[in-house]
Amino acid sequence: MAESGNSIDNSGQKLTGKVAIITGGASGIGEETARVFANHGARMVVIADIQDELGTQVAASIGSHRCRYIHCDVSEEEEVKRLVEETVKGYGQLDVMFSNAGVMSPGGQKILELDLSLFDRLFAVNARGMAACVKHAARSMTALGVRGSIICTASVSGSHAGLRHTDYVMSKHAVKGLMRSASTQLGPHGIRVNCVSPSGTVTPLTRAANAPSIRTTEELQEYYAQTSKLKGFYLSPSDVAHAVLFLASDDSRFVSGHDLAVDGCFARA
Ligand SMILES: NC(=O)c1ccc[n+]([C@@H]2O[C@H](COP(=O)([O-])OP(=O)(O)OC[C@H]3O[C@@H](n4cnc5c(N)ncnc54)[C@H](O)[C@@H]3O)[C@@H](O)[C@H]2O)c1
Repeated sequence: MAESGNSIDNSGQKLTGKVAIITGGASGIGEETARVFANHGARMVVIADIQDELGTQVAASIGSHRCRYIHCDVSEEEEVKRLVEETVKGYGQLDVMFSNAGVMSPGGQKILELDLSLFDRLFAVNARGMAACVKHAARSMTALGVRGSIICTASVSGSHAGLRHTDYVMSKHAVKGLMRSASTQLGPHGIRVNCVSPSGTVTPLTRAANAPSIRTTEELQEYYAQTSKLKGFYLSPSDVAHAVLFLASDDSRFVSGHDLAVDGCFARA
């Protein structure tokens, strides 16, 4: 029988007692989300990344009682499986999977010069890796009867074309297809699957993608500010992290199959 009672936690701590994995948690949006989850009472936040030194430092700065680093290359399914198994073994269950790790290919990746080796590498992380994370998180949740929340990082590039980065745009469209399929199939298990779709924000990923034409953080912020209709702000990783917090928490307990744009009403500059 469906539940209808209001069990939303109004204490201000949105993730009390929850166990979460954040892929790509060593940097940028993932790092910021790890901090927000820990501040909202998550019992354990597992940062999964390939930057071992950075990931370990971020986990230590959040606190070893609330955050741990585990090496995981999401393009290797066995590593994703082990990540989920180790998390469940250590902390009992997995409530939240934030599948966020992503890369951009170097160079423009315009269609006329598309490098298909770079294309394959990007798809192994952004699309195949994302699918592996959703698969193994969902397997663990269904096996243990956890009504969990899975959030994937898509992008405005999942809905808009670009003058460059053809492989990245294609992969982010794929993430939305994954989310739509998974939310439909996992709904009967009480598992929610959603996407968050940011526009541009300054992180190591976007610094590298726009170098050397845009050099300073301020120049990049100004460039991205031009892409939204909402004036007076620029998007920060913290804005994205708080949107992810909403999707992870019971505040969004009837939201599934949704792509949450965090883009200030995006319009290409
Ligand atoms: N920054 C933006 O403007 C923006 C906009 C829309 C979407 N996104 C998406 O947000 C996500 C996070 O990007 P970010 O901007 O925070 O960049 P970032 O480079 O700061 O973080 C990405 C993290 O993913 C990790 N990573 C890369 N390959 C991995 C792999 N194979 N396995 C595990 N971890 C891996 C990196 O080491 C890094 O720590 C990505 O999916 C990106 O496509 C970013």
